[in-house]
Amino acid sequence: MACVPSVGKGIIDIWSWSLDRSIPEVSRLWDTLSPEETLRATRFVRERDAIRFSTARGLMRMVLSQYLGVQASAVILVTNTHGKPQIGPSMQVPLQFNLSHSADRAVLAVCDMFPIGIDIEQIRPINEDVAGRFFSRRECAAIKGLQQQDYLHAFYRCWTRKEAFVKAHGMGLLLPLDSFDVTVEDKLPPRLERLDGDEQASESWKLFNVDAPPGFVGAVAAMTGGEAVRLRYQSLARIFIQDAGLVT
Ligand SMILES: CC(C)(COP(=O)(O)OP(=O)(O)OC[C@H]1O[C@@H](n2cnc3c(N)ncnc32)[C@H](O)[C@@H]1OP(=O)(O)O)[C@@H](O)C(=O)NCCC(=O)NCCS
Repeated sequence: MACVPSVGKGIIDIWSWSLDRSIPEVSRLWDTLSPEETLRATRFVRERDAIRFSTARGLMRMVLSQYLGVQASAVILVTNTHGKPQIGPSMQVPLQFNLSHSADRAVLAVCDMFPIGIDIEQIRPINEDVAGRFFSRRECAAIKGLQQQDYLHAFYRCWTRKEAFVKAHGMGLLLPLDSFDVTVEDKLPPRLERLDGDEQASESWKLFNVDAPPGFVGAVAAMTGGEAVRLRYQSLARIFIQDAGLVT
């Protein structure tokens, strides 16, 4: 099996791939899924959704298997009480990861030490009342009055940063979406501005934009406790072209 180095201190690896794959590729990935994942895949009404789910999970397993030094099918995944998938404690590694998918794209963040969350969204038209239902007062004020094109990008910047933060936090949607603020403005760096009950939150958390294909927006959040961290983009080609015949 080809091997990538362990992630390393202060680094978050970002992997990204297309979910629309050939039948032989999907079939190969299907073989890596656990019985629970296979069952989930069979429950989708539309075949395309089943294929995308299987591809997301299968390639996630293949990437994680490289860090863990096991076969993709042998990666043990558990979920926390709020549904966040994690490496099973029986594997005895501190590896952290999070997956997101939207339309035909998936992104995966992997690191050694910090709780992380990632989100990717395809930019689609939305009604302006959606922001008021999900965003804090400060966030709504920041995007109010923007022209439609700027509004959409600002909306998805805000959405993906909030979603990445929620996913890193690990409480899922039990965390009230108005209990924290993220920066939204194009000219400001991604940052957690406020978290109720935690005055150190802005220093403890790091937010990043994730490079995404045209028409998509992505963000990553990590609870680093103030430690410096950077994103490192990885390519599936690096590990799969020779031994798996998968194209990126
Ligand atoms: C499930 C949830 C964690 C993400 O849902 P989502 O944005 O629809 O989907 P994404 O593609 O970004 O993430 C889904 C993946 O996150 C992982 N995930 C599931 N539950 C999770 C949790 N509680 N925490 C972190 N990650 C989780 C899984 O790997 C899942 O993919 P899989 O089930 O296909 O393996 C949750 O936040 C949710 O339901 N969000 C709804 C959207 C919303 O209201 N967002 C408000 C933003 S302002």
